[in-house]
Amino acid sequence: MSTPDTNPAALPGEIARRRTFAIISHPDAGKTTITEKLLLYGGAIQEAGSVTAKEGRSHTKSDWMSIEQQRGISISSSALTFEYAGRHINLLDTPGHQDFSEDTYRTLTAADSALMVLDAARGVQAQTEKLFAVCRNRGIPILTFVNKMDRPAQDPFELIAQVEETLKITAVPLTWPIGDGPDFKGVYDLQTGQVLAFERTSGGKHRAPMQTAGLNDPRLIELVGADLAAKLQEDVELIQGAMAEFDAEAFLNGELTPVFFGSAMNNFGIEHFLSNFVDLAPPPGPVETNLGERAPEAPFAGFIFKLQANMSKQHRDRTAYMRVMSGHFERGMDVTHTRTGRKLRLSQAHTLFAQDREKVEEAYPGDIVGLVNPGVFQIGDVISVDGKVTLPSFPRFTPETFATISLRDVGKRKAFMKGLTQLAEEGVVQVFYPTDGARDPYLGAVGPLQFEVFQARLAEEYGVDVEMNVTSYQLVRWLAGDPSNVARFARHVEDDQGRPVMLFRSKYDLEYTAEQHPEIEFLPLPKDLTRV
Ligand code: G4P
Repeated sequence: MSTPDTNPAALPGEIARRRTFAIISHPDAGKTTITEKLLLYGGAIQEAGSVTAKEGRSHTKSDWMSIEQQRGISISSSALTFEYAGRHINLLDTPGHQDFSEDTYRTLTAADSALMVLDAARGVQAQTEKLFAVCRNRGIPILTFVNKMDRPAQDPFELIAQVEETLKITAVPLTWPIGDGPDFKGVYDLQTGQVLAFERTSGGKHRAPMQTAGLNDPRLIELVGADLAAKLQEDVELIQGAMAEFDAEAFLNGELTPVFFGSAMNNFGIEHFLSNFVDLAPPPGPVETNLGERAPEAPFAGFIFKLQANMSKQHRDRTAYMRVMSGHFERGMDVTHTRTGRKLRLSQAHTLFAQDREKVEEAYPGDIVGLVNPGVFQIGDVISVDGKVTLPSFPRFTPETFATISLRDVGKRKAFMKGLTQLAEEGVVQVFYPTDGARDPYLGAVGPLQFEVFQARLAEEYGVDVEMNVTSYQLVRWLAGDPSNVARFARHVEDDQGRPVMLFRSKYDLEYTAEQHPEIEFLPLPKDLTRV
């Protein structure tokens, strides 16, 4: 097929109905449960927990690797797609564990908005703050869902104040909880003035039934009881008197977050959130490129934000996750890969719904397409029909823990090197090579769980066993100048692109080395969202 040089007439409508977002939260706040319930309301699954039921713990389709199942955490990111109210929703699943920030950060570059999920008893937690900072950095709008209202919760006024103070964003409730814990009766919609009273359903498996009543409806007392009805009337008066009003522009600029309350496990407030989300969240907008802003209506271009090898046992190949930035994507189309100038025919394109793969025939801005990667793609690469587009920056993360690895069976060195290169390319770990002729590389990670994932994947996917030892190095610095005379207090290594790097055990060692060797310049660390 030849390169289409005109986009179809359907393009503007398809752009307008796209919503591409990610969920950010501290582990355990309920991201997996919400994802599952959103899919339930989106009709992608019939019964929550039906996807892969495992000993009472339900997993969404995004939870697929065996190591994830063993640990009950979601390590890799996938993209889930569903339709709701005429909108086409792409939900980028981001790993919740703090060790996987690098992967998560990259995934957030492909989202147009984010849903921040808070545990009603815990409020803003460490990981929420970190991920929020990334979204803030990108300026994407953030919606908030306060989950687990069916458990004893913090006072909602205090929760709102905490979001505002900790995250420095205006928080405006769009719904208000009626009671909490065993007395949680539902939410009041501050915009429509309706009470949405919920009934518990067994296990929250099916869509929760919903009744509505206005604040002055006599049925309110019947629904929630006299005490809660009076408390609600008081709260609403306070909110209307003291809180900021919702301002769509401030929301779109990332300065204001609308707040919803509910309980994902019991389906309280999920559909209500979803129906508001599709109206509030923005469709794909222009992307900053080397050639200026690229409108989503421009000819086709897409960027790679994630690489993943061996996604499933049936498909032992490498996948590049591409987000469509602009124009109409068609399977089989010819594009240019900007970094190498190579012409590529995109005939191997598929969806990323966990183990299941379906061919993607076409896609629009905001959509995520899995491309079989024969080794051409790197994170941050752009492909386009015009061939000259690049992105200015892509996030990289600074490792804080380092391990040595050695091969148990030297006969497997080839497979080992392949695994090492591919997994490093994906960002599972960063690799540093000794410069003194020693063979075994160092791995760098943000947290030690990354090493375990690396080791497990190397064994499972490449058949290679390695011995791994976490070292006492804690700091890394890239440098300019000749480091060959610096033997003490530092390990001289090279990164995967041959750039000189030093590893230190402590800040003291780094400062001492800097003092003793003024001929060496330590380069500033890569900041989140900048290319190293
Ligand atoms: P995560 O992806 O953010 O890590 O959280 P996940 O959805 O896995 O939820 C963490 C735990 O919190 C799960 O319990 C889940 O059932 C529970 N949970 C989620 N939403 C709610 C809610 O609205 N109310 C209550 N009470 N609990 C909620 P678990 O014990 O780890 O697993 P499970 O055996 O209950 O499935």
